[in-house]
Amino acid sequence: GIPTNKAMTTTEQTPTKVIDHKPTNTGAAFGSEVSAHMLMGVYRDGQWQEQAIVPFGPLMLSPTNLALHYGQSIFEGMKAFRMKDGNISVFRIDKHHERLNKTLERMSMPQMPFSYFDQAIRELVAVDADYVPDLNEGSLYIRPFVFATGEGFRVRVSDTYQFVIFTGPVGDYYQKPVRVKVETEFIRAAEGGPGFAKCAGNYAAAFYPTQKANREGFDNLLWTDSRQHEFIEESGTMNAMFVIDEVLITPSLTGTILDGITRDSLIRLARDMGVKVQQRKISYKELIAGAEQGLLQEAFGVGTAAVVSPIELIQVHGQDYPLPPYSDNSLWFRLKQRLTQIRTGYEADMYGWNT
Ligand code: COI
Repeated sequence: GIPTNKAMTTTEQTPTKVIDHKPTNTGAAFGSEVSAHMLMGVYRDGQWQEQAIVPFGPLMLSPTNLALHYGQSIFEGMKAFRMKDGNISVFRIDKHHERLNKTLERMSMPQMPFSYFDQAIRELVAVDADYVPDLNEGSLYIRPFVFATGEGFRVRVSDTYQFVIFTGPVGDYYQKPVRVKVETEFIRAAEGGPGFAKCAGNYAAAFYPTQKANREGFDNLLWTDSRQHEFIEESGTMNAMFVIDEVLITPSLTGTILDGITRDSLIRLARDMGVKVQQRKISYKELIAGAEQGLLQEAFGVGTAAVVSPIELIQVHGQDYPLPPYSDNSLWFRLKQRLTQIRTGYEADMYGWNT
């Protein structure tokens, strides 16, 4: 029989590696290494309470923890960079905070004051400043998250929450151009749903169709809309951008896709570089027509983790549409370069994006 008195750890897991050295770009898999400290904060009695910075370590949860059962669990993804002068910049804290609050609201979780979030980020990054990789060797990924800590198995909104931030040095998310499949059977989000929110469940629900595509040799999906299964949404870990006949086209924010901060930043940069930008519906049929007429010049994914990741092939209904070869003159490459230069102090931060 199954023993009833045996001591057993609560979870079987592969421990995340807490590294104790200044990182170099060793090619460790994205997300496999963390810095020495994490920040913890709690919400109780209707308020965000004291915070503490503690050594990175496990969390203890009741088996009736509401987040585990009913999914009140959300996150953000941000980055800190080593600058030319040795200082550290954190990218667009205010915009991430704004999105965090939109996500929290949709998940019936409490709003977080800006000062609470901002101070937490600044102090945690300062404590583990040595973990910010050197210029050109990557960045420090910052992962703030909030989850319910209420207990009991009745379906309800929690009245207590845990806020945690940990960080970890990262290099490239995708090491080479990606292959994507336009998904026309499963959907990621529908109008009125939480597609815009950075909630854990959005990622869980995407795994099954994504794994299917992975087995067919694709790195990711291009999701389509829930009604016609035709209009491009996003790519799960990235927003999608296309260059057709010299115009940069990206799906508009309809509430079903993530309001990406890299997306927003690149739209601003592209416009200021004199590129025509359109935020609108884009059908996979338009991509096919563009490919057939030789007008589809570029396709790429953009996101905090992925930065700017070129797409080398799009498959629709079993048919492959390869993208033309890229060069240093490709728009995705020039956008990525400018973004990096601003974040690392090689170019003036005229947008006020760096903290
Ligand atoms: C990010 O780009 O930061 C994301 O959160 C996407 C993915 C790594 C979960």
